[in-house]
Amino acid sequence: MKNKPAHKKTDVAAITSLLVRLDRILAGPKDGLLPSLRKLAKEVDQLVPYYDGHMVRVTFYSLAIGLKMDLSREDLLTLEVAALLHDFGKLGVDEYTLEKEDQLSDDEVVEIHHHAERGFHILSGFAKLEQAAVIIRDHHEKYDGSGYPAHKRGPAISLLARIIAVADAYDAMTADRPYHKGLPQKKAEAELLAHAGKQFDPQVVDYFVNHIKNKKPRAKRPKSRGSISSGKNQFTEYLPVFYNYY
Ligand SMILES: [Fe+2]
Repeated sequence: MKNKPAHKKTDVAAITSLLVRLDRILAGPKDGLLPSLRKLAKEVDQLVPYYDGHMVRVTFYSLAIGLKMDLSREDLLTLEVAALLHDFGKLGVDEYTLEKEDQLSDDEVVEIHHHAERGFHILSGFAKLEQAAVIIRDHHEKYDGSGYPAHKRGPAISLLARIIAVADAYDAMTADRPYHKGLPQKKAEAELLAHAGKQFDPQVVDYFVNHIKNKKPRAKRPKSRGSISSGKNQFTEYLPVFYNYY
């Protein structure tokens, strides 16, 4: 086991500044909400290990599934907000624990697991984020009831949280992390299928694995609006506004 490195202390000033800005964004005009939240999420991505755009990629995958499932615009909006901020509660978790390659102690597991509820407690304080906060709290619940924090099972877990769970796991498997090299798409899909009905909602896995072929998170911005629905990349199906911020 490696010696415990001196971990970066929680940057209280950075977190406070994020929350103050979040408060301003939510109090501001409605049409500025999503663009501003997208910018803020990119900054949260720089503060939360692994600093590599995890929240934004999870948002891509989540929206890809949500669009395939034909969710309402209102649900897509809640899904996007929740996905953008889903690991907000990891701000403040000991970085050594998050990046540890060896087996975690019980206390460390508890600390990591607490991020879902911490995110909920922080974000549910903002009236406009109440719905998204519930999704964030539940994004580690598992379909068979073995998840956390409340061991919810099946449809008792909201559909949006079940979608983020699949997107989150796919990104965790395919991204390079300190403790593993990212898996190729096919292997990660096989893992999702192997855990469908246990960890994951099988219908959500089916949509993601079988109906979204190209899972590259960064689609090229189409040259013209006309190419949005005719491009080869699955992400070209996204709402046009989607291209403006990622
Ligand atoms: Fe999480």
